[in-house]
Amino acid sequence: MAVIELRGIRRIYRLAAQRTQGKPAEEFVVKALEGIDFSAEAGEFVSVMGPSGSGKSTLMNILGCLDKPSGGTYRLDGVETSSSDPDTFALIRNKKIGFVFQAFNLLARTTALENVELPLFYDRKKWGKAGLNRRERAVAALREVGLGDRLGHLPSQLSGGQQQRVAIARAMVNDPSFILADEPTGNLDTEMSLEIMALFQDLNRRGKTVIMVTHEPELAAYTRRIITLRDGELVSDLPVTEQRDASLSLARWKEAHVLLRGTEA
Ligand SMILES: Nc1ncnc2c1ncn2[C@@H]1O[C@H](COP(=O)(O)OP(=O)(O)OP(=O)(O)O)[C@@H](O)[C@H]1O
Ligand SMILES: [Mg+2]
Repeated sequence: MAVIELRGIRRIYRLAAQRTQGKPAEEFVVKALEGIDFSAEAGEFVSVMGPSGSGKSTLMNILGCLDKPSGGTYRLDGVETSSSDPDTFALIRNKKIGFVFQAFNLLARTTALENVELPLFYDRKKWGKAGLNRRERAVAALREVGLGDRLGHLPSQLSGGQQQRVAIARAMVNDPSFILADEPTGNLDTEMSLEIMALFQDLNRRGKTVIMVTHEPELAAYTRRIITLRDGELVSDLPVTEQRDASLSLARWKEAHVLLRGTEA
């Protein structure tokens, strides 16, 4: 059964142009999405590709319940999100979805641990007022992404790849079923990108549904299905015939670079 079901999704941005003297104000309309039909089953790993401006982020924001479409329907786990009231909408987002951004979006003066704890403050009933469970849960999430020894570090004291891993721990700490990532490796070098892909593959193998925007076909090869947008329309939807293994690629990459360094010395 499809857990994500989009039917005829449209998103129109209206922008008021500057009023010129004597003329009525014009309105610019940007059609960012024009009738997207897309569904995904639980446990899929999908890449979203397409040129700049084709509507990828707009689609991700709708999938992640950060934004509502101008038309069409979006059912998530059988619940129609577009007609739900703001509180229910926010609740769906907090409970079911973990969002990862290109720019990490961590709070700068806040430690890794506190950044990861943050989403748990929204659900006091579950995590308890004393905050004990909350702390344990956040520590566990950081350990899972390999940062158990960086709890007290500020974002500025971490590498880009480590910052993105903190962001992934923050996205996972509420145990959501869906992970949405908008160009998660856009600011990272090859080695760190492979680390992040290995992490997503691991989460996907453990049953999480992952949807990720990427510009790079080599990274899309680590997912299992590729959809492509163009001018706000979905123009192709193809399975990945041979999914690559990111941990293996990472090991090979490291091996090759140790050898290279060896020859340089
Ligand atoms: N808040 C906004 N107001 C007005 N227009 C917007 C807004 N956000 C996006 N757009 C427009 O909608 C279209 C789709 O934008 P979107 O950000 O979804 O593209 P994208 O595929 O993610 O591009 P990129 O690869 O550069 O990130 C673009 O033409 C963009 O200019
Ligand atoms: Mg974008």
